[in-house]
Amino acid sequence: MLAQSLQDRINLQINREIYSEYLYLSMAAYCEAQGLSGFANFFKIQVQEEHFHAMRFFDFVHERGGRVVLDAIAQPKVDFNSALEVFELSYKHEQFITKSINELMDLAIKENDHATRSFLNWFVDEQVEEESNMDTIINHLRLIDGKGHGMLMLDRELAGRVFTPPTI
Ligand code: FEO
Repeated sequence: MLAQSLQDRINLQINREIYSEYLYLSMAAYCEAQGLSGFANFFKIQVQEEHFHAMRFFDFVHERGGRVVLDAIAQPKVDFNSALEVFELSYKHEQFITKSINELMDLAIKENDHATRSFLNWFVDEQVEEESNMDTIINHLRLIDGKGHGMLMLDRELAGRVFTPPTI
């Protein structure tokens, strides 16, 4: 059975993961409007990743005999100045999610809940990849410096991203 404090905090994390899904869908919409369908594809795949994250927490609460309570999802940012800004904000957002997962882990340790700690280890590792993905593309975008040829090449590369559900 989950401690009430952990159940409440995981419910908050579910909200943050679904907000992430919504934020990346908004970024996909911006990229589509800019004619960058490969960039949009990157974010549409990210939407699926975030949904997967949210559902992992959702299922875990029930496996532990808890109750999921869904809260309102805030409106995400809808206007951006450039693809670089979109990725810079994505990176910042992933850093926020990493901090949020770490706080959740701190609480699981405080509550001496070994099952939740074990479950969260996957997310700790996943966040390293989440931050790294965004950081790598930021570096590429800075090198390209908005030049058409480079943007088209990167757009083509990002068009190839697919969602593969992780094996847990
Ligand atoms: Fe669910 Fe992108 O962290």
